[in-house]
Amino acid sequence: MAETRKFPHHLIREIFEQPDALRRTIAPRVSLAEGRVCLDQIHISREELRALRRMNIVASGTSRHAGMTGQYMMQELAGVPVDVDYASEFEYRNPMIGRGELSIFITQSGETADTIASQREARRKGSRTIAISNVEGSTIAREADGFIYTHAGPEISIASTKAFTGQMACLFLFALYLGKIKEEVSKELAQQYIGELLALPQKTETILAAAHQVEKLADLYYRVDDFMFLGRAIHYPIAMDGALKLKEVSYIHAEGYPTGEAKHGPNALIDFRLPLLMIATCDRNHAGSVVRYQKNLGNMEGFKKQGATVIALATEGDIAVPQLADHTVFIPAAPELLSPILEIVPLQLFAYYVAAKRGLDVDRPRNLVKAVTLE
Ligand code: BG6
Repeated sequence: MAETRKFPHHLIREIFEQPDALRRTIAPRVSLAEGRVCLDQIHISREELRALRRMNIVASGTSRHAGMTGQYMMQELAGVPVDVDYASEFEYRNPMIGRGELSIFITQSGETADTIASQREARRKGSRTIAISNVEGSTIAREADGFIYTHAGPEISIASTKAFTGQMACLFLFALYLGKIKEEVSKELAQQYIGELLALPQKTETILAAAHQVEKLADLYYRVDDFMFLGRAIHYPIAMDGALKLKEVSYIHAEGYPTGEAKHGPNALIDFRLPLLMIATCDRNHAGSVVRYQKNLGNMEGFKKQGATVIALATEGDIAVPQLADHTVFIPAAPELLSPILEIVPLQLFAYYVAAKRGLDVDRPRNLVKAVTLE
């Protein structure tokens, strides 16, 4: 039963359910001792997966943002080039795909018409297909070659939260699974990542325990009319989803943008009237992350000189970001490819508290539905 016991809305309950949802999605599928990922509903042979030359990820809304993080995970861990598409675009652009390729369709409901139509198109063109869904027996899961379920439990609120973090966990599991089959990932690296995956629920609980800090930020900003969310690389999809969450539930105009792109146009908007939320976390063990972190500090300095207000997401223990940003929300350290699963949680909380303070129907925003079953 999906009740709102203890919580005033489904949305906040579902945000707080994420640690358990992640445990159910991750734990049954990994063996730390063996460094193994077990995905027994893929129904595609190891030989076919080993020979994979390209992948497509297709989805709508928040599910597509998960797919965008999956692109980084697959390319880094399995060495396979990945394209990501809006489902509503994929089916109409005569996608150049075919045999020897795998197309992954991500859909919480498993009933989104554009995503179902895209899966049918991909199969028609000879691609193998896998569905990542939160609803067992849904249309997409019945029609794809294989499937990976997020075990998030029923997601009632129109804005997707626990399904989203579950989708990113499933994409990472598949990237690790594929990386091992293609011998890109050693047993030791797999064990390291599995340990980090198993630590995610506890780290999510740490973030949720500090939810009151995010609520205080919402008190300061719930009256604003515009917001810009900025993130680089695998953090850009999280900036996109943070903006989408705020838009969906609070009706504030919010935009997600790649941090490095702000100077090509959007910078003209950035002054004291446009609050920025910048993802400025850093995985000290990941060279690319350290380089991007330094660039983020430079960008933040520039935005502050333009008079902007900056709310930053930083890694626990960071000293430089709080010295530059007006407000800093800390999240526990995690590997670069897994930190997006943690980073979205404060942004979900922010969107919820802002919408609640604006007195809106946070579970059923105007004009939106949970599953768009018509194209
Ligand atoms: C929208 C929902 O209607 O559909 C979003 O409001 C969701 O939350 C999007 O991300 C895609 O839905 P699904 O079920 O295909 O993931």
